[in-house]
Amino acid sequence: MVQSNQKLIFGNWKMNGSLEKWAQFSKTVFAQLNKNNIDLGRSVLFLPDLLLHQALQNNELLVGAQNHYFEDAGAFTGETSPELLSNIGIKYALIGHSERRHVFGESIEMISQKMKAAQRNSIKPVLCIGETLEQREANKVFDTLKNQLVSLTSQGAVGECIVAYEPVWAIGTGKVASLEQIEEVHQFLKENLKNELGVDVKLLYGGSVKPNNVKEILNIESVDGCLVGGASLTAESYLALFGL
Ligand code: PGA
Repeated sequence: MVQSNQKLIFGNWKMNGSLEKWAQFSKTVFAQLNKNNIDLGRSVLFLPDLLLHQALQNNELLVGAQNHYFEDAGAFTGETSPELLSNIGIKYALIGHSERRHVFGESIEMISQKMKAAQRNSIKPVLCIGETLEQREANKVFDTLKNQLVSLTSQGAVGECIVAYEPVWAIGTGKVASLEQIEEVHQFLKENLKNELGVDVKLLYGGSVKPNNVKEILNIESVDGCLVGGASLTAESYLALFGL
């Protein structure tokens, strides 16, 4: 069993930050993680595209993209190429984040193609799935998640993937899922993925994770780590997630 102080703590900056903020954040976080002998592999920061190149220059903290297109190149004005991300050295990307699904209308089919594109370009995808409040209230949590998992299972490219369970109603709302809800869903997902794919896929929880609730969430055995939005935006708060 993985100890809770060995688990992953990934940050999603969404459309926030600046060159100056990243410079300060990365310097402080890198120094503190090192000083406290925390494995740097536990941390990946998903940054806006325009910060990625800069972030790769000092080669200290791991960084990833928040999204990319499913084609490698071509007449797709304004899109981000997974091939180019890989070319500049990006090894992780969020795929199907709730905001991509709900604000930008990404379909399960499109997300499936993005999963394939990530893996084709040696980018490890973090597939984000989760139910809305309406789906939870209508008792459709497991059906919804099973449906969304098709983006992974239909690609069959396992091992190189992480799944993040992020209930839509808990993202950015301050309403964290209860420990029982997280445990119930994570167990369902672990079993489902094991049956479908025959391997253990790492499972993160995301949705209003903060320094004051991260410990109890990481203590759940089926939780391999957390994906954190708001509380990953300052060095102080991100380090507090590691207990520093
Ligand atoms: P939050 O965001 O921690 O601010 O709720 C989580 C996410 O969107 O990944």
